[in-house]
Amino acid sequence: MRKKITVVGAGNVGATAAQRIADQELGDVVLIDIIEGLPQGKALDLMESAPIEGYGCNITGTNDYADTAASDIVVITAGLARKPGMSRDDLLNKNAEIVGGVVQNIVKFSPHAMLIVVSNPLDAMTQLAYRRSNLPKSKVFGMAGVLDSARFRTFIAMELGVSVENTHAFVLGGHGDDMVPLPRYSTVAGVPITELMSKERIDRIVQRTRQGGAEIVNLLKTGSAYYAPSAAVVEMVDAVIHDKKKILPCTVFLEGEYGISGLYVGVPVKLGAGGVEQIIEIRLTPEEQAALNKSAASVRELTTLLKI
Ligand code: NAI
Ligand code: 2OP
Repeated sequence: MRKKITVVGAGNVGATAAQRIADQELGDVVLIDIIEGLPQGKALDLMESAPIEGYGCNITGTNDYADTAASDIVVITAGLARKPGMSRDDLLNKNAEIVGGVVQNIVKFSPHAMLIVVSNPLDAMTQLAYRRSNLPKSKVFGMAGVLDSARFRTFIAMELGVSVENTHAFVLGGHGDDMVPLPRYSTVAGVPITELMSKERIDRIVQRTRQGGAEIVNLLKTGSAYYAPSAAVVEMVDAVIHDKKKILPCTVFLEGEYGISGLYVGVPVKLGAGGVEQIIEIRLTPEEQAALNKSAASVRELTTLLKI
């Protein structure tokens, strides 16, 4: 039997994620949004692509949570996107209201679902989803590190003129301007980039990674990135559906790991059928740990404001 994957929010990230899930035949997709007609129209359009693309899963659109019942995985993209000049944190209160309501509806109909949160500000919204859902922490996690690491990998490949397939990179911390790209653990064909580039070149790439979301917002002017974000979400869905046990940076609930407690922050984890199956603790230098602490403190400010 095919898995049931609900995508909440049929906007740019949600609809593109639904398309990628269908293309990869990861499961049947239910697309849900508050706007009447939007999820239905996009789902029908995707169904009509199936004869050409050759996928066999069902994609349905709805405004009714009853249609999401017994979902295995729920991707939450509902909310407002950033506009130019708006920080991720500006979205806090509005998106908290939206995500809180979505989670309440989802768990009512899918009490055993796994939740992958995308809505910004990401780390705080994931913590809110965890608190509101009462699901185990292994089943509630957020997407940001896969996207931020993909951006870092892209910039490394562009800078060195090598294939992105040869690049690996890790970005830890919150999905904000003080996220923590880790050059020592970022490699080209296994060689750390600290051996391949000057500190100035690395610093430039690190800064561009931190500003990666804003760079796209400033170019698009009417919304934020969605091709790379949806690809990142679907890599995580695929890891769960196929029990890949992939090591990916995800936003997860820390209880002492990395010296951080009671907070959702991005760190490397093993992702498989059980969701977050293990938190991987890598050794950090005092400078890297200080940067992670600073990033976590920014997340904590938001969770404190939301009292979650
Ligand atoms: P979008 O504006 O294209 O789509 C959002 C959709 O959510 C809209 O269709 C809207 O009608 C819907 N929505 C609003 N309230 C809802 C509710 N109560 N129930 C169901 N649906 C509701 O925005 P986009 O570009 O898809 O981004 C979605 C969210 O993801 C934003 O918060 C954005 O900042 C965030 N994001 C996070 C990334 C990450 O790395 N974690 C990357 C990219 C976007
Ligand atoms: C991004 O990084 C807006 O958070 C979103 O593209």
